[in-house]
Amino acid sequence: MKNILVTGGTGFIGSHTCLALLEKGYCVYIIDSFENSSNKVVERIIQIYTSKKNSVNTNLQVFKGNLRDKDFIRDVFLKIKKNNQKIDGVIHFAGFKSVSESIINPLLYWRNNLIGTINLLEVMAEFNCNNLVFSSSASVYVPNEKYLLNESSKIGPTNPYGNTKHTIEIILKDLFKSSAKRWKLASLRYFNPIGAHSSGLLGEDPKDIPNNIFPLITNTALGIQKILKIYGNDWPTADGTTIRDYIHVMDLAEIHIKVLELLSKGNSQYLKLNIGTGLGTSVLELVKVFERVNNVKVPFVFEKRRIGDTPYVVADNSLLISKMNINTVRNIEDMCRDGWKWKKLNPDGY
Ligand SMILES: NC(=O)c1ccc[n+]([C@@H]2O[C@H](COP(=O)([O-])OP(=O)(O)OC[C@H]3O[C@@H](n4cnc5c(N)ncnc54)[C@H](O)[C@@H]3O)[C@@H](O)[C@H]2O)c1
Repeated sequence: MKNILVTGGTGFIGSHTCLALLEKGYCVYIIDSFENSSNKVVERIIQIYTSKKNSVNTNLQVFKGNLRDKDFIRDVFLKIKKNNQKIDGVIHFAGFKSVSESIINPLLYWRNNLIGTINLLEVMAEFNCNNLVFSSSASVYVPNEKYLLNESSKIGPTNPYGNTKHTIEIILKDLFKSSAKRWKLASLRYFNPIGAHSSGLLGEDPKDIPNNIFPLITNTALGIQKILKIYGNDWPTADGTTIRDYIHVMDLAEIHIKVLELLSKGNSQYLKLNIGTGLGTSVLELVKVFERVNNVKVPFVFEKRRIGDTPYVVADNSLLISKMNINTVRNIEDMCRDGWKWKKLNPDGY
């Protein structure tokens, strides 16, 4: 494998993955609409890569366009073919990801996430490109309050965003079954990616008011927001706050490459894999670790529980570790340190 197409490659997880791919010697082609990312991301990827390699050459090409436009995708594959190259594998991040927005505007989510993916798969089939790693989510599961979620846990998304992820998983399963042992597919069910590249040059840059806990913590530490609201201190957990499985975005980036490499070496298959550390951290613990490693204060207040929230979402990651022999290497302190460095250096984002 040499040439990897990364859809959504300028987004939060995609940008870190593109850098990791370049550092492993891959040629990277990005498709991104830039609907939820900045042009500056590409400069930053190149800046980190070239400073480490002491070289001015970067095997990175960016195609600005939308997966909802199938002709555009076909054009990208054709251009690469005309250069006597072939896409060996695709990492498919592109999609909208806000649960609340998906509830307000479900059709936008179905159109973007579903149609975009079907277009991509159809063009991949046309060009005989059969390796795909797809960004799924722990939101496909029915939360079970206190047990680790494994890949056989009950599926039942509770919002349109999760429904689009689950539906794409079904499409991939059908595709795998239908083909004459052609497709090599993986759905990675991420738990909670946080943190940033250790340089502080790449990180999460939400366009609107963030919904996720980590950007809210960094905003509070910086004073952009006065106080962090923690929803519920009466959940059935040790300190009463909700527990999640946080994973460092660079671990996540590297896992994509390992999964793609394993897929390409193996027979046709369809993998569904939890991607988490298997360790639960409560909101209160996360805030405390953040304060300690960064020597900053994060003032917080407890609010009532939010409707639809759930106390415990943690991955059983034994399949990832035992079957794929892949482990995470960065801990919650690294996530807090790197995430804070990014925010301090880029208070207004890119
Ligand atoms: N960040 C998380 O907490 C999380 C958790 C679980 C799953 N995921 C999934 O992982 C993927 C990446 O997440 P992220 O946090 O990097 O999101 P992100 O919004 O930062 O990145 C997604 C990128 O895709 C692009 N994009 C969206 N729709 C597109 C389209 N139709 N055509 C071309 N480009 C398009 C956006 O401009 C953006 O750059 C998403 O599919 C998301 O649903 C994310």
